[in-house]
Order: sequence, then structure tokens, then C-alpha cells
Amino acid sequence: MRKSGNSHLLCFILFLFFLQIQTTLLGQGRRPVRVKNGMVVSTSRYASEIGKQVLTDGGNAIDAAVATAFALAVTWPSAGNLGGGGFLVYHRSDGDVTTFDFREKAPLVATERMFLSEDGKIRNASNHEGILAVGVPGTVAGLYAAHKKYGNTNWKKLVEPAYKLAKKGFPLTWGLHDGFKYHKDDWLQYPSSTKIFLKPDSSLYQPGERWVQRDHAATLKRIMKKGRDGFYKGKTADLIMDYMQKHNGLITHEDLEKYQPVEREPVHGTYRDFDIYAMGPPSSGGVVLAEMLNILEGYDLAAMGHNSAKYLHFITEAMRRAYADRARYLGDPDFSTDMPLAKLLSKEYAAYLRTTISETEASISDSITFNDVYESPETTHFSVIDASGNMVSLTYTLEYPYGSRMIVEGAGFLLNNEMGDFNPMPGTTDSRGYIGTEPNLIEPEKRMLSSMTPTIVAKNGIPIMAVGSPGGRTIINTVLQVVLNVLEFDMNIAKAVEAPRIHHQWLPDVTRMEDWGFSPDTQRLYKDYGHNLKIRWRQGAVMGIYKNTEEDIIYGASDSRSSDGAAVGY
Ligand code: GLY
Repeated sequence: MRKSGNSHLLCFILFLFFLQIQTTLLGQGRRPVRVKNGMVVSTSRYASEIGKQVLTDGGNAIDAAVATAFALAVTWPSAGNLGGGGFLVYHRSDGDVTTFDFREKAPLVATERMFLSEDGKIRNASNHEGILAVGVPGTVAGLYAAHKKYGNTNWKKLVEPAYKLAKKGFPLTWGLHDGFKYHKDDWLQYPSSTKIFLKPDSSLYQPGERWVQRDHAATLKRIMKKGRDGFYKGKTADLIMDYMQKHNGLITHEDLEKYQPVEREPVHGTYRDFDIYAMGPPSSGGVVLAEMLNILEGYDLAAMGHNSAKYLHFITEAMRRAYADRARYLGDPDFSTDMPLAKLLSKEYAAYLRTTISETEASISDSITFNDVYESPETTHFSVIDASGNMVSLTYTLEYPYGSRMIVEGAGFLLNNEMGDFNPMPGTTDSRGYIGTEPNLIEPEKRMLSSMTPTIVAKNGIPIMAVGSPGGRTIINTVLQVVLNVLEFDMNIAKAVEAPRIHHQWLPDVTRMEDWGFSPDTQRLYKDYGHNLKIRWRQGAVMGIYKNTEEDIIYGASDSRSSDGAAVGY
């Protein structure tokens, strides 16, 4: 009996691997995947398949999102996680919209200047490197809370597929192989990570070889049986504590037990006759996105032409202004109670900002010159729609690719390095590229400001599009451009996620432009406005769903900037 169960599983895994090769060959490009009933689009085909299976078994979008998130922790560990945090936006087909904030928190003993040495400088990049960079994880609590309130499938059934994949292993993809190889020196720094990401002789797993994660499976089993307590209490919590004590970390049992996710109102904006629902603080994503859309609504963008120099000029000016407000005002709402959100989201404020934008010349962000400080390009997003038309847009992260790169010994999962998203040097906004504004300074139990922008677009109360992306601060601009590509330029979702994009974040006063799709003429005309331009490799990796409610067809696309992504539906 057991043998035949195993061989079925192996066949299934080989089938998934075959499908993945098929997708790599056929799935990229500008034609979306089309289905009638439900779909999951994520950075890992294994995870998308697991989410889709939950949908076909009758689960709703929240159930599928929970199963996909646990699967991604196993199959896309550079950002999928148990030891990180994130945000979920849920738009039900009946018109109700809500969000879950499961962002990591600063430990109880954290202090405003904890990363600074006596000369006021950051000690050895400690806000991003090493054990002090670890925030109190929120993912398991967040998924548990969302499921408890809105799920309708047994919890065990949602964690089990991830548990089985970790226990039995799965053929390593090229994308995972590349990541493990790139970070080989990181694994060698931490014995607990060496054991997971390298073979016993320290060589690399090759594409197609089975990668097994036994300790991770054991942790998932505890979560499967005990829900959130399987992570925040008992053996998993003890293993985290052992690791903290061994490495002089700050997180305590009290931190873990006290951690609570929060169900929050979404940020609501409009663009023409579309409703935009996204994540509010402690993510800056929703506010900055809505502010930019409000500014841009006042221009005839379609007439300018997609990615024309003129269009790029106007979106840059919107980015510059909204990102300045991000730095000035936004932080954890449980601490910064005086954020002027109503003003930032108002059409009147956008109209005023438009009066400060020249049709012919770039503005100057500030007299201060910043070096390039960008948040890491890792994080992962997925989108879900179920047979009733409920949509989930979920982005979660460990911050850097593979977070702190530290696997909790015996527990098999990675810890985040999210403390790096706080402003590390109070009052210091200087040429080294730091922002030291007050709302995002470190305080015990505070959530660090994020740029994650899980977004749902609705029309007449019906959710029609779910999108999001990795990419640190670039995320918000990536989502902006994909939303405009669909709503303003009428692109299908695949074309919209593929189209080349740009990023400006107020400071440094420079525009990053992807290295394809912008002609030398466009670049020259854009620079003629006075914009500073740098070329970059790629920006983000959008996982998007669009539902055409008239045709009653669901379209999905995984961005070809992601190596392993897949849109899977039925
Ligand atoms: N760690 C990336 C973000 O939260 O925006």
C-alpha cells in the first residue's frame, strides 16, 4: 500500500516537472492562460498546482491562498516563507473587501538605535545581516487568522500538500538551482543552512534532482496539527529560542506568543470608474499607488502612447511626489496615529500636485544627493480567484532573497531579515542613502514600513483583477504600470505584466529603466525632460489575474521575469 502511494506521488511530481518544462517553453509571452472556473498564479508551478487543487476540491480563494502560501515556503524558499511576513487583500464576489496584515514586528527589547555604534553609524550592516535583523515572524499567524475567519476547507488539508512536498521532496527547478548556487557562500556561513541547501559533501543539488526538507516537513506537520500554536508555541517555538540563544538573538517566547496579525480596512482609491483596493500602512503600497493613480487620472495618458517619453515623464513625476510622501508620513498605524491618509488619498490633493508638474521639465527631488539605496528585489506575490469569483491578492517576504539566510536548526525554515526595512538612523537622511524620518523608526512591537502592494481592481463591486509583485520599493511602481497597462492601454493581463517598466522613488533622483523595450530615441527624449536615467536588468515579477465578467472568462499570467512562475486554473 505504502509503496504504491509513494509511486503515485513520484508520478505526480514528475508530471508537475514535465508541466513546468512545458510552461517554460510555452507559457511566456503575451498570451494569457484562459480558464472558466478558478485560478492560482504564483512564482512556483508546484505551488500554483497545489492551490488549484484546493479550488477544484471546492475550497474558496482564501483556502487556496493558504495552501499556496505554505507550498511556496517549500518550493520557493527565497521568498515563500514560514519565518517572514506579508499582506493579504481579499475581495469577495459579494462586494466585501478586507485585508490581513501579518507583517513582522520588532522584538520587545528592540530600540531605536539598536543597529548603531557609538559614532552613530550602522554596525556592520547589522540591520540587514545577522541575527539582530530578524523580526518576529507573522506568516503562520496571518494565514491562520484569514483561514479561521473566511476559509471553508479543513486547515489540515491546506497545510498537508506542503508538508508532503517537503517530506518526499520534489525535482529541483533551474530557478532554485540558480538561487542555491548564487548563495552558496551564504549557506556555508551557517551550518544549519548548509545542511538544507547543499548536499552532505557541500556540492549543489542539480536541476531535476529530488530536494527533500525533513525538518521543514516536521515543522509543517506541527502547524498542520496545531494551527498557529504549532509555530508560536511548543517545539517550533523552542527551536527558534534555541537558535536565538545560541546566536545572541533578541526574539523571546513572549514575542512569539504575543504576535497577532490584524484584519484591517483596505486602502480604497478609484481610477476612472474602477475601484482600487490595496494594502494600507504598515505597507506604503496602497497609499502610494492610489496617490499616483489620482495624479495620473488628470492626464490623457492613452493619447500620449504607451511608454512614450511623454508618458514616462508624467508617471515619473507622479512617482516622485508620492514616494516623497511615503518617506515623510508613513509607518505602522498602531504607532503613527497622525498619518494624513485622507489627504494623501484625496482627489483634491492630487489636483494640487498636478499643478506642481511641468509638461516640459523634470522636477528636482531635493538638494540632497542620495546614493542608490534600494530594497531587495525578493518577496513573492500570488493571485487567486475561485469559482464564485472571490479574489485574493497576497504578497509576503523574508526581505532579502532567502532573508537572513539562517535556517532555524532542527526546524528547517528560514528567518527573515525584515528589521532592515526600518529607518535605522533617527534623523539621518543623508548622502549614504538613508531615510531617518520619524514614522518608521524602530520601536518595540512596531511593524516596519513595507512597499508590498497586493492589489485588487473592481468594477461595480465585482473584483476583476488581482496583481502584485516582488521588488522592494519598486513594487508600487510595478503595480502602477501594470494597472495602467490594463485600465488605460487595454492590454490583456499577459501583455500588461510583460511590458517593460521604470522606477523612480523620489530619492535618489534617478529613474531606473529596464534594459529592453525602450528605444534609444525614447531614452533620449525622456532625458531631454531633465530626468537622470540608469538602465537596470529587470523590475519585479508580477503574478496577475484578470476576469472578463462579460465573457465570464478568467485570464492569468505569470511574468517571464520569474523563472518558475505559472498560472494554473481549471
Ligand atoms: N521587504 C520588502 C518590503 O516589505 O517592501
